[in-house]
Order: sequence, then structure tokens, then C-alpha cells
Amino acid sequence: MGIYCFLMWLSLVGLYSSVAEGVIGVNWGTMAIHPLPPKIVVQMLKDNGIKKVKLFDADQGTLSALAGSDIEVMVAIPNNMLAIMNDYDAAKRWVDRNVSVYNFNGGVQIKYVAVGNEPFLASYNGLFIHTTLPALQNIQKAINEAGLGDTVKATVPLNADVYNSPSSNQVPSAGRFRADIRDIMTQMVQFFKQNNAPFTVNIYPFLSLYANKDFPFDYAFFEGTSKPVMDNGIAYTNVFDANFDTLVSALKAAGVPDLPIIIGEVGWPTDGDINANTRYAQRFYNGLLPRLARKQGTPLRPNVDLDVYLFGLIDEDAKSIDPGFFERHWGIFGYDGQPKFPMDLSGQQPPSKLLSAAKNVKYLPKKWCVINRDGGDMSKLADNINYACSFSDCTSLGYGSSCNGLDADGNASYAFNMYFQAQGQKELSCVFQGLGKVTTQNQSTEQCNFIIQIDSPANLCSFAMLWLLVLVSWTITTIIV
Ligand SMILES: *[C@@H]1O[C@H](CO)[C@@H](O)[C@H](O)[C@H]1NC(C)=O
Ligand SMILES: *[C@@H]1O[C@H](CO)[C@@H](O)[C@H](O)[C@H]1NC(C)=O
Ligand SMILES: *[C@@H]1O[C@H](CO)[C@@H](O)[C@H](O)[C@H]1NC(C)=O
Repeated sequence: MGIYCFLMWLSLVGLYSSVAEGVIGVNWGTMAIHPLPPKIVVQMLKDNGIKKVKLFDADQGTLSALAGSDIEVMVAIPNNMLAIMNDYDAAKRWVDRNVSVYNFNGGVQIKYVAVGNEPFLASYNGLFIHTTLPALQNIQKAINEAGLGDTVKATVPLNADVYNSPSSNQVPSAGRFRADIRDIMTQMVQFFKQNNAPFTVNIYPFLSLYANKDFPFDYAFFEGTSKPVMDNGIAYTNVFDANFDTLVSALKAAGVPDLPIIIGEVGWPTDGDINANTRYAQRFYNGLLPRLARKQGTPLRPNVDLDVYLFGLIDEDAKSIDPGFFERHWGIFGYDGQPKFPMDLSGQQPPSKLLSAAKNVKYLPKKWCVINRDGGDMSKLADNINYACSFSDCTSLGYGSSCNGLDADGNASYAFNMYFQAQGQKELSCVFQGLGKVTTQNQSTEQCNFIIQIDSPANLCSFAMLWLLVLVSWTITTIIV
């Protein structure tokens, strides 16, 4: 039976990998003060039929939880390790330690290694321009030498700002790689082609809208617009297609017209900006998911089963808010693994299988920290709010956000509670020089949720991050007071 059994097994494996094609993937970021335990997240992925995840590192705890599942994984090398990976021995160690080691029966199905994360972002001012390509080459070489080159591909998730349309009317067919990195991009895409590796791009219609107040609102969604962009007889009615096809044109100009493209990130945030709310997020996904299910592709690449990773899986309340307050609200699930709105990832219409919540999530007790007006010196209130928000997430208080309608006391209570929850409800964390007190009464309003944190150990790494964030936190605290 030996050889037949083996062949059957091979064809089953082949079947399996083709099942994962086209099934929607998600980005699983873990920059949360109290991250959900990886085991709970993996179960949630399974319960929701999610078969592909993209990570931002190669964390051992995360990968151990994924071991033995049929979930396909993209692990990642953070930007700050790119320079190190210019040394081949270091790249080899990284691959040994973070890829090869999981390659066994019952291990982790690593399919991609993301080398850096948007390393050519214009706002990095060229910081990673000279280290990314050598890191990519070393990592792929190490993968090949480990004998995994057929199944594991190195790629580089890039922001859509690596290409543009220099023509005056900004049509997709004029797409080219950005002039300052054109040579490097050309070498990179040729390297992808040689290795049968894909191009990975992050496309954010929300950010187009956020960055430009004159951006036509309807063009960010998928229901058509009265003013399409005309390009050689093609009418572009949404920025997603136009953006994707600008890349298709740039690849063509760089000599690799058929290079496969992965959408590494796409999504819509639900709070932290006037255009970030569940209503618009739902509208966006309701347009995106069915067209992915129809394998519609785009005008320049029609009828393609796009490989897509949504951004993101869960909210991350310790992410940098440099890009904007919305940055902590990209999850299709909230911080505790509750779906934010009904949604069918398979794109069926009408929706049939809706998102199901994380199971076995343990919460802290139903206790909130609120303002105590008679307890202390009210002139110290502003300082205490600043302090609370420097070490927790107050982004929902911002303009246009879910908790923006609170009165002054509500604002203070919200800030105090976020700090109290971040600190795992430690008694001393609700003192605030006498201005705080603990209550068992739910303080939430219809719009604004006063959360109870989950009972997981605080993430010390995220906490260190929060300390750094203190430096930039004046932006939010000045809004609150
Ligand atoms: C493997 O990945 C982890 C997590 O991203 C990283 O901290 C570690 O340095 C990597 N190992 C090596 C040998 O580079
Ligand atoms: C508090 O009330 C809000 C709104 O009614 C509700 O959604 C939330 O689940 C409640 N929180 C807890 C911990 O019971
Ligand atoms: C509460 O905070 C928000 C945002 O920080 C602010 O816009 C609002 O004016 C504050 N409300 C009061 C009554 O102070």
C-alpha cells in the first residue's frame, strides 16, 4: 500500500492547500495591554472557518497555539531586525529558529515569511531602503537551503504608497513604482518572480478618505459613484480597484506583468475618527466580501481569486496612535473577541454564517472606576486624567468617536476606568488623589462602552510600548482637558 497511500496523502495535501486559496485570511496583531490568550484566539479562528493568518512576528506562544491546526501562517520579521538580516548567518538562524523548527507533522503550516512591514513607507524617510532587499534575499536563500523553498516564500508587505500614477489624470494604467525607490522595487519584483513568490500590498480606502477631505466619499466603498475615473474606456467606480490596478500597471512596467499579488491588509476601523464607525465598516465589508466570493478581480486582472488578509482580527489598544486614533480600532472583533457587527466572511448573500465570538474568555469582576467629585482637589482632575490616558487607551473620547458625547464627569470617569482596567483593577489604580472611586454600577451609555478588561496577564512588552507612547500622548490628553 505504501506508495499509493503516499500518493493519496499527497493529493489530499494538494486538495487541502487549494481549499485554503481564496478563503479569507486575517491579520493577527497582538499589541494589546491584555491580549487574548493565543489558544482562545486559535479556537476562535477555527470556529469562524478562518484558515489563513498573517502575524507581525514569529512569537513562540502564538506559533505553539497554531501548531497542529490546518491554519496557514505568514510569520514576520519586524523592520527593526532588517539590518540584522543583512548578515546571512543571522538570516539562517532566524529561519532555523522560526520556520524550520515548526516544519514537522503536527507543526505549523508556515507558507510565507514577511520581511519587514511596509519598510518603504514614505514617512520612514528611507530608513529601511538599503536593508530590505538584502534581508529578503538572505531569508529566501536560507529558506531554500533549509529545503523549504517550494512551500515557503519570502515576501515584503508594502504600503500602497510604493507606487503611484504620475499622469496628470491619475489613471491606473499609468501606474509606476515611486520614483525614489523605482530601481530597488524593480530588483525586488524580479527577485519575487525568480522565486515564485508573491507581491504583498496593503490597500486602505479608509486612509484615502482620512488623508484627503476632498476625497469622494462613495469612491471609498463598492456601490458605485456618480463620478467614476475613466481610463482607456474602463470606468473605475471604487478606489480599491483603481489602486490595485495601479499596482498591476507598475508591475507590468517593471517587467513582471503576471506576478501574483496578495492583499496583505485591507479593512475599515470602527472608532477613533468621524468616518470610523461600525456602520461604515459594515458597508465596506458588505461590498468587499461578496466581490471576493464572486472572484470578480479587477478590470486589469478580472476573474481572479484574490488572496486577501483582513486587517484586522482583534482591536489592539497598545498600538501607536501616530497614524490616528482609529489605529486601535481595526478589529472585526473587539479586544475581548466579541464580533463588532454581524458579518459573513465567506461573502454569501444573504449572509448565512455570521461571526462567532471567542469562547471561554475570562473577564475581571464587574467593577468600574469613576470620578468622585467630593473626594479630592478638583483642580488636580486634569492632571489625573492625563495620567490615566497616558497609560491606557482613551481614543474613543476623540472627536467623532463613540464616547465623544460624554459630559465632563463622563470624560473623567471614562479615563479613570480605562486606566483601572488596564491595571487589572488593582485597588490603588483607582485612587487618583482621592478623585476616583470604585463602583459596581455599569457606567456604559448607549454609544459608549465602559469596558471590563479580560483577565489575562498584562503584556509587559506592550506596557513598555505605552511608556514610549507617553511621549506622544499629549496629543490626546490636550484634547480631553
Ligand atoms: C525568532 O523570532 C522571534 C520573534 O519574532 C525573535 O524574537 C527571535 O529573535 C527570532 N530568532 C532568531 C534566531 O532570530
Ligand atoms: C454594560 O452596559 C452596556 C450597555 O448596556 C452593555 O453592552 C455591557 O455589556 C454592560 N457591561 C457589562 C460588563 O455587563
Ligand atoms: C469630553 O471630552 C471630549 C473629547 O476629549 C471633548 O470633546 C468634550 O468637550 C469633553 N466634554 C466636556 C463636557 O468637557
